[in-house]
Amino acid sequence: MKNELEICVLAAGKGTRMKTTTPKMLQPIAGRPMIEHVVAVAKQLEPTAIHLIVGEDASPMQALFAEQTDLTWAEQREQLGTGHAVMQALPNIKADSATLILLGDVPLIRAETLAQLTVSHADIVVLTINLEVPTGYGRITRDAQGRVTGIVEEKDATPAERDIKEVNSGLFYIGPGLLPGLLAKLTNDNRQGEFYLTDIVAHAVQQGLSVETVNVADAEEVGGVNDLAQLAAAERYFQRRQAEALMRAGVRIIDPARIDIRGAVTFGMDVIVDVNAVIEGPCHFAGSSVIEPHCVIKQCRIGAGSVIKAHSNLEGATLAEGCQVGPYARLRPGADLRDGVSIGNFVEVKKTVMGPGSKASHLSYLGDASIGAEVNIGAGTITCNYDGVNKWQTVLEDGVFIGSNTALVAPVTVEKDATVGAGSTITGQVPQAALGVARGKQRNIEGWPRPEKITDAPGLVKKQSPIKDGA
Ligand code: UD1
Ligand code: CA
Repeated sequence: MKNELEICVLAAGKGTRMKTTTPKMLQPIAGRPMIEHVVAVAKQLEPTAIHLIVGEDASPMQALFAEQTDLTWAEQREQLGTGHAVMQALPNIKADSATLILLGDVPLIRAETLAQLTVSHADIVVLTINLEVPTGYGRITRDAQGRVTGIVEEKDATPAERDIKEVNSGLFYIGPGLLPGLLAKLTNDNRQGEFYLTDIVAHAVQQGLSVETVNVADAEEVGGVNDLAQLAAAERYFQRRQAEALMRAGVRIIDPARIDIRGAVTFGMDVIVDVNAVIEGPCHFAGSSVIEPHCVIKQCRIGAGSVIKAHSNLEGATLAEGCQVGPYARLRPGADLRDGVSIGNFVEVKKTVMGPGSKASHLSYLGDASIGAEVNIGAGTITCNYDGVNKWQTVLEDGVFIGSNTALVAPVTVEKDATVGAGSTITGQVPQAALGVARGKQRNIEGWPRPEKITDAPGLVKKQSPIKDGA
């Protein structure tokens, strides 16, 4: 049993290969900054300390972990290499501790895999992978007996060494009390002029310390994220792993290769998620809810048995039980649908409560409204909630029926069981059980002559000839 384990997370690199303005450590995987994944896994190992080694402008990262007061920070002003980075944390590490080195850009490592490093009895344990294309990674060198002799960085490797397929994941275990002595041996006498942490392996071998490797079969788990292509690969890997865990927990994911779940999302029993859903937490889907293809759902609570039909976009909405939404519906923050509400295609709902059993089946905007139970809203109903300066409330009481193509000019109330005639512009209260109708009266012009086709007249817009190639 190795106690007094301290973990160093290297996160000071500039991430120049990303070619983005976002700091590399803050690039998201499944909606969470890369570095958060690493710190979360480090915590699972319950070390005595976690040291984050960061560069000069670390304030966004420090803000990210503002509430995690158990982290120790070390600044590496100049990025003089991975070994130099660990040196910056050394004053904070107890001399007799064992150390585990994690890299901020190897974010998807699992605690189970790291546990294999810390249970070994060797002095140094290196986590390795075998890659058909080892480009970019440090290669593990071995002697004729197959014993590890060191790690050679690609830029320093001979052509023969470059052919080595066994590579360094960058993650190490260093036995109790060995770190200070090994770091003291490092020099920057190499192609990049850096203090490579990887050189501690050769020094350990020379000192007669035992060096072991743990080979991970799943290369993607320890893939380094140096550029946006590797970031996308890490994202897909994470999504697949997450989808597999959800499927094992009883979520029916129609195609685990076509799903994106970001942040904290929870599911009840028998939920079905069809293809190309993008779900951003916090979200909860209660039992037997269904997400049809191509939906974007962010920060929502979906009640049992509710169905979100294809191509719908939901953000900050709450659905009670047995609701139907979409296809092509848009629910915005504050959409609060009670049991059995039905929202159809091209309906937008914002900051609006809809009581049980109410329906808006087609082409409507419902904003800042309080809608009772069993209300039927006809196609093309608009709550005119904004006068250009202020937002106003619309109240539709229980049992109201709104005819199609109605403008409800807020503030306005339609009382219980009242009806509004189609095509009305309602500006005042409609009393209980009354019919409110506000539209021009129909008139018919008998024998009205239709316009005839003419070829020239002032103001006539003529048909254009099609643009020819090279014109
Ligand atoms: C490193 C390893 C390489 C390994 C690969 C695995 C060394 C010298 N090389 O190469 O053997 O195969 O990871 O992904 O260790 N960092 C600092 N300060 C620095 C330099 C780097 O904190 O001065 C941090 C970076 O933020 C990053 C990590 O260390 O999180 C690795 O640095 P990077 O430059 O990406 O190393 P690689 O070239 O990938
Ligand atoms: Ca890297």
